[in-house]
Amino acid sequence: MEKQYVTLKVNGKEYEFPVGTRIGEIPDSETLSQTLRNRLELTGSKESCGEGACGCCTVILDGDAVTSCMLLTVECEGKDIITIEGLADPITGELDPIQQAFIDYYSFQCGYCTPGIIMASKALLDKNPHPTQEELAEALSGNYCRCISHYTVMEALNSIAGNKEA
Ligand code: FES
Ligand code: FES
Repeated sequence: MEKQYVTLKVNGKEYEFPVGTRIGEIPDSETLSQTLRNRLELTGSKESCGEGACGCCTVILDGDAVTSCMLLTVECEGKDIITIEGLADPITGELDPIQQAFIDYYSFQCGYCTPGIIMASKALLDKNPHPTQEELAEALSGNYCRCISHYTVMEALNSIAGNKEA
């Protein structure tokens, strides 16, 4: 039988994985979150609920924010994926403006939810650089923070969006 492969572009780099159940192969049941974290060591995206409810595992797939625990890797053939590790400038190390704003506004406490919130924000701001506070809140409605950092998250994002609430 002909060998099956799945190809992913992650943070600008192409990866090809054999599909199957032997060691080193990707089984049909493996999630994108598991592939990113366990095979590519991109552990910035966190896994918490594992069922699409918390947003901690959010990455950007073909321009949209997605919960990577809810996608099977074999279904991501040919997709362009960006994780939190892909936001900073690869040459200079300069942070994405969203990352810098989160630092400037102290927009996290334990930080477990933060990569997911930043990626959901990034997906919105790439499409709409000046969202209203309501649009920001809607885009983050699937991202939960147990430390209640929402207020400072909104301050950081309002500053980038140019909203007067900042
Ligand atoms: S771990 Fe994916 S949504 Fe919670
Ligand atoms: S900063 Fe701790 S869960 Fe959000």
